[in-house]
Amino acid sequence: MKTLEWEDNKLKLIDQRKLPDELTYVYCENYQDVIVAIKNMTVRGAPAIGVSAAFGMALADIEGVDLTKAAEEIKAARPTAVNLFWAVDRVLESEDALAEALKMYDEDMATNRAIGKFGAEIIDDGDTVLTHCNAGALACVDYGTALGVFRAARDAGKNINVICDETRPRGQGASLSVWEMQQENIPVKLIPDVASGYLMSQGKIDKVVIGADRIAKGGVVNKVGSFMVALAAKYHDIPFYVAAPYSTFDNEISIFDTVIEERDGDEVRYYGGARICPEGTDVINPAFDITPKELITGIITEKGIIDPI
Ligand code: MRU
Repeated sequence: MKTLEWEDNKLKLIDQRKLPDELTYVYCENYQDVIVAIKNMTVRGAPAIGVSAAFGMALADIEGVDLTKAAEEIKAARPTAVNLFWAVDRVLESEDALAEALKMYDEDMATNRAIGKFGAEIIDDGDTVLTHCNAGALACVDYGTALGVFRAARDAGKNINVICDETRPRGQGASLSVWEMQQENIPVKLIPDVASGYLMSQGKIDKVVIGADRIAKGGVVNKVGSFMVALAAKYHDIPFYVAAPYSTFDNEISIFDTVIEERDGDEVRYYGGARICPEGTDVINPAFDITPKELITGIITEKGIIDPI
C-alpha cells in the first residue's frame, strides 16, 4: 500500500480524512488539485506533503504552467513542514520535473527503510514505545519514519508494544497510527493525549519516538503536544527520539523562527461532528509546537543517529 502513486499522469492519494473507516483515493489531475489536497489534509505528514508537492510541480509542467508561479502557489499550501519547500525548489532546479518527482518518490522509500534500520537499534526486546501523531507510512510514500522504526524493530525479531497518543484536535494518532500498527499486527494501544505523563510515572513507557516537520538550530518542530510529551519524558528520564530524513532539516534558521501553522478553530470546537463548547467560543489552534534540543536524546536519520542541531 502506497500513500501516493503516479498513475496515468495523475497523482493518486489515499484520502486520509476518511481513514480508518474507508480506504478511498483522490486523483489530482492538475497542480491546483494537489494544492487543495495538501490544504485540506487529504495528504499530510511532512515527507508525503513534499513528494506530493513534487508531483504537483510535474503536473504544472505537463499543463504548461510557468513553474515559478506554480512553485509559489504550491509553497503557500501549508507553512510549517520544510519538506514542502525543499521538494518544490528541488523540482524547480531540475531539468525534468516528472523525472525528479519520480526520483524523490523512490528516494523517500529507501530513506525510510534506512531510518528504520538505524532506529531499530535503539529498541530493546519487549519495549513499550510511545508515539505522537502519525509519522508512519501515511506520512510518507510508505513505511514511515517513527513507525518505520517500529516496523524495522519487529522485523529484526524484537517484541515491541506501541502506544499512540490520540493527537487532538485532528486525531492522527487515533485514526492513522493505530490503524497502521493494526494492519501490521504490531501490538498497539490508544491513549488520551493527557495520559502519557501518568503512564511514564508508572513505568509503562520505555521510550518515545516521534517524527518531525522541521528540524533546525535549537530543536524540532512536530505536531502540537510533542513538546509536552518531551517534558514528561525528561522528568522521568525516558529516552526521547525524533526520526526524520535530512529533507526535514532546515539548517538556515533557528527553530524558534519557524512559522507555526494556526488551523481552523472548528477543529477544536467540534469532536466527532458534535460541538463541545459554547457556540462562538474563541479558540487557539496551533498545529505544531517546538521541542528544544535539550529534551531530545537523538535524531534518527537515514545516515545514522545524530545529536539535535
Ligand atoms: O498536520 P500533519 O498531520 O501534517 O502533521 C504531521 C506531523 O506532525 C507528523 O508527526 C510529522 O509530519 C512527521 S511525518 C513523518
